[in-house]
Amino acid sequence: MINFTCTDENYFGDLSELARAFSQRTDEDISLAVDFRFGEGELVVRLASDKFENFVKYYRYPFSYGDEAEKKRLAKRYIKIAMYGTLVFLTGKELPYGCLTGIRPTKLFRELGEGARETFLKDFSVSPKKEELIERTVATQDRVLNRDPHGEVDLFVNIPFCPSKCAYCSFVSVSVDRQKKLLEPYTDCLVEELRYLRSVIAEQGKKVRSVYVGGGTPTVLPVRLLDRILAECECGAAEFTVEGGRPETLTPSVLALLAAHGVTRLSVNPQTFNDATLERIGRKHTSEQIFKAYKRARKLFDINMDLIAMLPEETLDDFRLSVDTAISLSPANITVHTLYLKRGSALRTEGYRNDGNALAEQMVDYAYNAVTSAGYEPYYMYRQKYTSGNLENVGYARPDKLCIYNVDVMEEDTTVYAAGAGAISKKVTPERNLIERCANFKEPLEYVKHFDEVMSRQRRFWEE
Ligand SMILES: C[S@@+](CC[C@H](N)C(=O)[O-])C[C@H]1O[C@@H](n2cnc3c(N)ncnc32)[C@H](O)[C@@H]1O
Ligand code: SF4
Repeated sequence: MINFTCTDENYFGDLSELARAFSQRTDEDISLAVDFRFGEGELVVRLASDKFENFVKYYRYPFSYGDEAEKKRLAKRYIKIAMYGTLVFLTGKELPYGCLTGIRPTKLFRELGEGARETFLKDFSVSPKKEELIERTVATQDRVLNRDPHGEVDLFVNIPFCPSKCAYCSFVSVSVDRQKKLLEPYTDCLVEELRYLRSVIAEQGKKVRSVYVGGGTPTVLPVRLLDRILAECECGAAEFTVEGGRPETLTPSVLALLAAHGVTRLSVNPQTFNDATLERIGRKHTSEQIFKAYKRARKLFDINMDLIAMLPEETLDDFRLSVDTAISLSPANITVHTLYLKRGSALRTEGYRNDGNALAEQMVDYAYNAVTSAGYEPYYMYRQKYTSGNLENVGYARPDKLCIYNVDVMEEDTTVYAAGAGAISKKVTPERNLIERCANFKEPLEYVKHFDEVMSRQRRFWEE
């Protein structure tokens, strides 16, 4: 455990992420105190620890900046570089992503331009394996990056209902059986919000490049309600995704409805093909149901399959079998997550610990090698807090099957009109490096109750 302190609380959150990553890898109790000051054209960082007597280290970096935001961003970067070297020395451990803590390593890689590879390897101490993954992902996604950010936008719709709650999941999502009465009013509000957003998109003369109906499990809604929502989403976008996921919701009538509304992409998510694990994580479906749903759905849509590495009690062989099975089914996309346990997930509440760094690395490495050898390319990736081994989530695609929406969201270069509980609209102005956000109420009940406020916030945001 690293007992981390920092004299400036504005920097504490981000820096403590790095300390926490080392905490996962050591059984020793080690203190690390960070202090820093800005001098004439330099940043001085002081690190002290009680592991050794009088252990104090100073690092000096030449320092200049444009505005306050850049000052903070660059200072954090240097402090993390200094902390990383010291923590490697104090613990004897290294991290696959070196001193990088952010969600979007690919975005940073692109921003750094020509020198990115060297900076990642030498300054940030990212391992060669992870640098290769990032570089490859950046190269693949280049094909679909938004070249007209003022003209082309995305539409996102959130449907936070599920057949049941999975033990690992911390997404805001309510079990449909518990909230049956909410489904109709939720749909009424969503339809009204979508109509408004569509009218703004039309007035502003924007083109929708991708529609993404996520959740939750949108396909759990009664056909009559889903029909009304999907009708509002039809806007001629080349890509139209519905995050179905749970196979028991993908009945022939739901699939026919999606096809009738022009959906192009659907997820059928195994998470694992091991039935004992599926039961353990509360999925309430079997692998057989995945096979059946996939067989029906693949005739109509490009299919994405989500897998999770490090599910409770799974061995390397269990995970390998899931990866190999997914590959043998040959879907358009395979997305490999590494288990993260945030507040709100049943596993975390029960005190389950998702450590086991070496196994996590073996699983994730296996997936990368197997999936890329089968002809898929990594095309988007992100990292989450509280992930086994501080690893990542990677979306892999067949070469012509990249999901534009996933790339847009990770690279934050496209304006998103977002509707529904928990949805966050984003206005992106790339030339000013500016992202403005408008967040809706997270819980569906709150969203319905305060719908007038939702609409007035949306109006203020888009009509400013
Ligand atoms: C928002 S969920 C919706 C998918 C759909 N409802 C389903 O369960 O099939 C998207 C994906 O995130 C991944 N995910 C959710 N919670 C996770 C966790 N705690 N750790 C790793 N991956 C997670 C799962 O693979 C899941 O399919
Ligand atoms: S993983 Fe999917 S089905 Fe399970 S609770 Fe989360 S959103 Fe719902």
